[in-house]
Amino acid sequence: MKFFVDTANLEQIKQAFDYGILDGVTTNPSLMAKEGISGEANILEHYAKIANMVDGDVSAEVISTDFQGMIEEGQKLAAIAPNIVVKVPMIREGVKALSWFTANGIRTNCTLVFSAGQAILAAKAGATYVSPFIGRIDDTTWAGMQLIYDIVEIYANYGFATEVLAASIRTANHIKECAIAGADVVTCPLKTIEGLFNHPLTDIGLEKFLADYNKLNG
Ligand code: E4P
Repeated sequence: MKFFVDTANLEQIKQAFDYGILDGVTTNPSLMAKEGISGEANILEHYAKIANMVDGDVSAEVISTDFQGMIEEGQKLAAIAPNIVVKVPMIREGVKALSWFTANGIRTNCTLVFSAGQAILAAKAGATYVSPFIGRIDDTTWAGMQLIYDIVEIYANYGFATEVLAASIRTANHIKECAIAGADVVTCPLKTIEGLFNHPLTDIGLEKFLADYNKLNG
């Protein structure tokens, strides 16, 4: 299972990288805006910095919603570095663009996926990754995790090569559930990844080990 960090914040990417467990980064226009990155040149430069910080894949999203615009933007993004993956929204023009990128050797991440049907379209178009948004589905009282189970099963039925990249992850338990479901990748905020560290028995156990050591050596 691969761990991606879902942020455009360079410090957080570095912190995740320093744990030695980071396999890649996902960004989106909202995350870029949160870092105050605007203007094409600055945006491309910021993606270049991120791509340079990690060995794994970095998803960079197109803003265009028409086929031609997505192709032009995607080509610019893909040219930044070999580990840039072009993130394309699950809309009609997006599926056309995914097919074009696949035919032209450009790797893609199909984003804003909220149904198994959309995930089938992404796989048929040859997307490298599909990003189902668990948390945003949970927000509507539907069960986001069920979508991960469904997509993993459907892709296995047909041997689709598209990797299931579970996104919009809100809790450490989401990560565990994704692992059980067989998601290929989880992308999470750093804080959520760090939630995996937490167990009170670890803290209590360590405190006792150190206290016992200090009784004789302190
Ligand atoms: C993934 O690629 C998306 O950028 C992200 O996971 C969305 O998460 P959110 O629903 O917390 O904004």
